[in-house]
Amino acid sequence: MIIFNKIDEIKLYLRKQQNAGQTIGFVPTMGYLHEGHQSLIRKAAEENDITVVSIFVNPTQFGPSEDLAKYPRDLKRDEIKAKEAGAHIIFHPDDKEMYPEGYKTYIEVEELSDVLCGASRKGHFKGVATVVAKLFNIVHPDKAYFGQKDAQQALVIKQMVKDLNMDTEIVVCPIIREEDGLAKSSRNVYLSEDERKRSLVLSKSLRRAQELIEQGITDAKIIRSEIVGMIEKENVIIDYVEIVSADTLKQVDKIEGKILIALAVKVGNTRLIDNIILER
Ligand code: PAF
Repeated sequence: MIIFNKIDEIKLYLRKQQNAGQTIGFVPTMGYLHEGHQSLIRKAAEENDITVVSIFVNPTQFGPSEDLAKYPRDLKRDEIKAKEAGAHIIFHPDDKEMYPEGYKTYIEVEELSDVLCGASRKGHFKGVATVVAKLFNIVHPDKAYFGQKDAQQALVIKQMVKDLNMDTEIVVCPIIREEDGLAKSSRNVYLSEDERKRSLVLSKSLRRAQELIEQGITDAKIIRSEIVGMIEKENVIIDYVEIVSADTLKQVDKIEGKILIALAVKVGNTRLIDNIILER
């Protein structure tokens, strides 16, 4: 496996491979890789000749009071996990390489960026869209892989790719969960034993919502209040519980078509998200 830190060097290397007819699969990450990332890397390795993983904790997507400084980092461990899953190349630039002095350009995907996580994390998706666009310009991937766990992020990126006529195909892969249902996340390491147990209410309440919908309940208000009730019982702080169209992220009153039920909570100091897409 080759590790590149410099944009010019990885560009030169990848352009040569592409000119020789190799296809590139790309998995952008912020590191501290887990099974969820590994499932994306495996899929990329299955579908492309070369698999590139970027590891960059992107400062522009963190708000001033968020966990940028303490975000978990362990490059040696990431190298092993990436290699194990089939990656060929790691791109690990530092902040100055990505945002040199005088940096001025940002990308905003309107509307989709302002709701759900975007409402409480102002500027978050501007940072995500900007870094992903930069990474796409560096890597020129044929396909890029994102997790369904960050459902809103995947929609924002798809919209950006469409609007800016980018040539990359976006592949969204299923949420990977622990055996007890907790969605895998790099932030799970912050949870104490008790918080870890209380966090299970996210996946449990989503399963309960699914059951209710399968029983024929179509009123979004009823589903929402069932989820809220379950979460509040666990003494977990709700950021949002939203039932929205899976394509537009606009709130729905009635469960019909393809809907996304998305949750964001704070368990102790740790912000966790989870979601489910249902079609009726
Ligand atoms: O999902 C993430 O880890 C990040 O938001 C991403 C896509 C790597 C951009 O920094």
